[in-house]
Amino acid sequence: MSTTEAEVDSLRAEALEALARADGEAEREAWRADWLGRKDGRLTLRLRGLKDAPAEQRAALGKSLNQLKTTLESELEERRESARADALAALSADDALDVSLPGRPQSLGRLHPVTQTMNDCIEAFAEMGFRVFEGPEVEWSRYNFDAVRIPDDHPARDMWDTIWIDTLIEGERQILLRTHTSPNQIRVMEQSEPPVRVIVPGKCYRQEATDATHEWMLTQIEGLAVDEGVRMSDLKGTLYAFARRLFGEDRQIIFHHSYFPFVEPGVEMAIDCFLCRADGSDCRTCHGTGWIEILGAGMVHPEIIENAGYDSSKYTGFAFGVGIERVAMLRWGIEDIRHFYQNDLRFLRQF
Ligand code: FA5
Repeated sequence: MSTTEAEVDSLRAEALEALARADGEAEREAWRADWLGRKDGRLTLRLRGLKDAPAEQRAALGKSLNQLKTTLESELEERRESARADALAALSADDALDVSLPGRPQSLGRLHPVTQTMNDCIEAFAEMGFRVFEGPEVEWSRYNFDAVRIPDDHPARDMWDTIWIDTLIEGERQILLRTHTSPNQIRVMEQSEPPVRVIVPGKCYRQEATDATHEWMLTQIEGLAVDEGVRMSDLKGTLYAFARRLFGEDRQIIFHHSYFPFVEPGVEMAIDCFLCRADGSDCRTCHGTGWIEILGAGMVHPEIIENAGYDSSKYTGFAFGVGIERVAMLRWGIEDIRHFYQNDLRFLRQF
């Protein structure tokens, strides 16, 4: 097919107009095939037909057609480039990263106040030579009750209204969530020979009507020391040293007589109430007594020493069970134990 210069001009106009209408990449590609396609593109065919043009026009026409080809190719590339820029701009506007936004601050975690207090208590006893032992939270009733002299019909079982596991063994409920850490006195003695000096930290569970000083889940540290010649004064000395370390020198400490089937004699230790300082008011935290009990303790019952296979005429021991939430309350002046497990960050961030 031969072409004239006038036709080249009208081809240019037609091609550029068609390109201007080609919106989108598919249309642009169709336009390219139509005009520049290697086999039968309209311009390609004109170039191929140059050989049929009159010899005197061929060079000038060839130049014009090749210029047109360059123009169309560069116009197409320009359209494509501007479409890419538009797409990128749209993307930035919609969902791009705004690197000028300030980063979100990472909030640093910390230990729960009960865990902090637990660690401090463990450290205080460890410095006095106690080593740490751990026992199970899901416990046999034989360890939780029978082995510490709390038989089936003993009224003390009521004190620890128990959360039982449903599974029956030989027709009986025998597995429970431990109500105290004292079963570990037995577990430790089963596994060791005297002298024994251990502490056993851990969670305990009771069916409690909760109030300002009672939760249904509580944390205790059990302590046990058995050796030749261990006396009540050793128990008092150990607990005084512990209390001074945790609460400072100026706090008041009191021992009351108390009853626990696994010790004889038994005591409770209390610290003066941080809130009312025993002013006789109707204090909600200490129930107006002026004291907050933090632990039960006593001399290990000789029957328990014997059951462990130790000679009770030679060995004596003391044991104690500290309530860690109560210690934390007294240290920081927290008036209600229930704050600890409500997971309110406004409370927890203060420690
Ligand atoms: C006992 O659990 C005995 N096993 C302690 C013991 C060990 C006595 C060794 C003698 C020898 P008690 O139920 O009193 O005793 O609990 C001990 C401490 O745990 C209490 O002084 C108190 O600080 C804490 N405690 C008890 N019940 C709760 C509760 N519901 N919520 C929070 N703390 C509690």
